[in-house]
Amino acid sequence: MDPLGATTVFLVICVSCLLFFSAWRKMSGSGKLPPGPVAFPIIGNMLQLNVRNLPQSIHELSAKYGPVFTIYLGSLRVVVLYGQEAVKEALIDQGDEFSGRGKLALADKLIKGAGIIFSNGERWKQLRRFALTTLRNFGMGKKSIEERIQEEARFLVERLRNTHERPFDPTIPLTHAVSNIICSIVFGDRFDYEDQKFLTLIKLTEENNEVFRSLLGQLYNFFPTLMDYIPGPHQELLKNSEELRIFVLERVKMHKESLDLSCPRDFIDAFLIKMEQEQQNGQSEFNTENLVRSTIDLFLAGTGTSSTTLRHGLLILLKYPDIEEKVHEEIDRVIGRSRSPCMADRSQMPYTDAVIHEIQRFVNLVPLSVPHAVTRDTHFRQYVIPKGTTIFPALQSVLGDSREFPKPEQFNPGHFLDENGAFKKSDFFMPFSAGKRICVGEGLARMELFLLLTTILQNFTLKPLVDPKDISITLVTSFVSNAPKPYQLCVLPR
Ligand code: HEM
Repeated sequence: MDPLGATTVFLVICVSCLLFFSAWRKMSGSGKLPPGPVAFPIIGNMLQLNVRNLPQSIHELSAKYGPVFTIYLGSLRVVVLYGQEAVKEALIDQGDEFSGRGKLALADKLIKGAGIIFSNGERWKQLRRFALTTLRNFGMGKKSIEERIQEEARFLVERLRNTHERPFDPTIPLTHAVSNIICSIVFGDRFDYEDQKFLTLIKLTEENNEVFRSLLGQLYNFFPTLMDYIPGPHQELLKNSEELRIFVLERVKMHKESLDLSCPRDFIDAFLIKMEQEQQNGQSEFNTENLVRSTIDLFLAGTGTSSTTLRHGLLILLKYPDIEEKVHEEIDRVIGRSRSPCMADRSQMPYTDAVIHEIQRFVNLVPLSVPHAVTRDTHFRQYVIPKGTTIFPALQSVLGDSREFPKPEQFNPGHFLDENGAFKKSDFFMPFSAGKRICVGEGLARMELFLLLTTILQNFTLKPLVDPKDISITLVTSFVSNAPKPYQLCVLPR
């Protein structure tokens, strides 16, 4: 065939594929899919999207296609929900239908549907209910979660004091403190900050989080077959995950050897007791595999999230010393300097509460939430979304809604205060998502943020290394989560 003929055949094939794909999109399901940009076979809309900044591309598409639209990431069909009304209608009003977990190839490869975060159906229900109950302090020994956080806050202060007013990057101290709180809850005790096992555990979780956040990690989710052949850090994940598994399995073994059925010390004990109780139940999801995976889930979901929020929070306070000063005043008035902050203080500290809410709103940690899926063919507004379709609830659009938060791009604790300076709740405050999949660790995370931040500011004044007006608090964004730029600070004892 001459070159012209070959080109013509090639073009005809491309156009046919395009038409077929476009028709398939419209026909799939028995009704009409939400609108969206024309997608190409295999690559979907990848050429029209900025994979490095998917949240921004999604924001731009929402201006054209409205609050509910369809995109294709590779061959993965995704329906995006943009704005508070669409997110609320789906996740809350039609909660059951939107409660599935969307498929992510990387998670499938590593986790295979075990545990809480990436499971579905009966397994997810049983494990989620159990984790919620256990985290609410039922049946977890003598030490309350609040006491565990207070204890860790004291160790963190000690560590910060040892910087002796020299500059340091807060990432490691904050990650270690937050991680240790989860360790105390799941393993029964905290680790020394120098403990080699602890440092390895953190290194593995951090490396995994990094890969999930990286470009290659994101591409893996959309082109898994191809990416399996391409070298890169995503290939390390399996090895890391296996190491994490072995670490947790060892702990489970140690727990079994010293288990007292009448006195569970932590999450692992509580799970082992549940396994005993459910031995005769053929439908039970309480087995060793789900114990290990749920433990790792709590660890992964609970470490990077709260510590990144705190790290970004400190950077924001460095930029706005007047806001830090007001928090100091409130701490001195309500708590004083001689006792540890406790949760009962929060209701008397509206300004601090508003600052923490505003930090979470501004940080917009998980801009597109964790992908959901519809559990059956779902009528939503004038559309039909076929069973299994991946859903992105764009939490960024709710946290950044200018009808609720005037000038949402600015950091302003006034977003959560009324004219009398009292704390003002908002239905648009959704950093933990909403509905049936809402973050299992919400209560824990909110305690951590309040107790760790107030303990730090009770003991120290933050000192920037540059003029506050030159500090950038802009988010470094990715599909999975936002983070602040790396920075250093000094802390001066008060
Ligand atoms: C500032 C801190 C945190 C933020 C902003 C946050 C945010 C989120 C978000 C947006 C989701 C997805 C919800 C959805 O699918 O719609 C989620 C899920 C989850 N989070 Fe958190 N989280 C935080 C801290 C924690 C902590 C400390 C834990 C540990 C206990 C935790 C455990 C989980 C779990 C287990 C899920 C999966 C829930 C499910 O699939 O049913 N999170 N979180």
